[in-house]
Amino acid sequence: MHFLSQDLEDYIARCSEEEPPLLQELTRETHLKVLRPRMITGHHQGRVLSLLSRLVRPKAILEVGTYTGYSALCLAEGLQPGGVLHTLDKNPELFQMQRTFFDRSAYGGQIVQHTGMALEIIPTLAATFDLVFIDAEKEEYPEYFEAVLPKTRRGGLILLDNVLWSGKVVEPQSASDRVTAILNRLNSSLATDRRVRTVLLPIRDGLTVCMVE
Ligand SMILES: C[S@@+](CC[C@H](N)C(=O)[O-])C[C@H]1O[C@@H](n2cnc3c(N)ncnc32)[C@H](O)[C@@H]1O
Repeated sequence: MHFLSQDLEDYIARCSEEEPPLLQELTRETHLKVLRPRMITGHHQGRVLSLLSRLVRPKAILEVGTYTGYSALCLAEGLQPGGVLHTLDKNPELFQMQRTFFDRSAYGGQIVQHTGMALEIIPTLAATFDLVFIDAEKEEYPEYFEAVLPKTRRGGLILLDNVLWSGKVVEPQSASDRVTAILNRLNSSLATDRRVRTVLLPIRDGLTVCMVE
């Protein structure tokens, strides 16, 4: 779903930092070799993730939903020397492609991959995170948020992707559309949740930024 015209999207990308060559290659390879390539974060949102991470200067990052590793590489750009990014995905078939691109970046040794279900893996991670990016199963977003909140330091950021759900959050809802109902409930509850300060940014399919109080 494009909320802006293609001309405006192209203009925004042209007026933002260039997409690093390795990420351009990862995008091409994802489109050639992997199902549902539209899931990849992409140039503009990737640069937003990179900038947010550079502002936070995290020692520890958690990503929920690796896919082919694009957003992990963007977030890793802000890691402190010696910092670690944990990223998890339920699909074992993506593991080798992720590793190949991680190892070709400057951050390969700082990225730890986990394969399995998010709600089983998150409780096993001992770190306290400075930055969390949630981008896996939309129906489970409320559970991911509750699982990562106690593991995120005060002042740290929790980011949630696709919260506008192609604009469905403001359209008349069918009773069978569980995902939109769940995202709508979560979006409104985060706006008044005193444990975090929240802004929903209209970037790509909607990116919520929560700062932990
Ligand atoms: C939208 S894609 C992630 C895109 C990635 N963050 C990027 O920008 O390139 C969502 C990923 O979440 C994974 N996923 C979905 N449900 C999951 C779950 N319950 N536990 C772990 N991973 C899950 C999928 O296999 C898929 O690769």
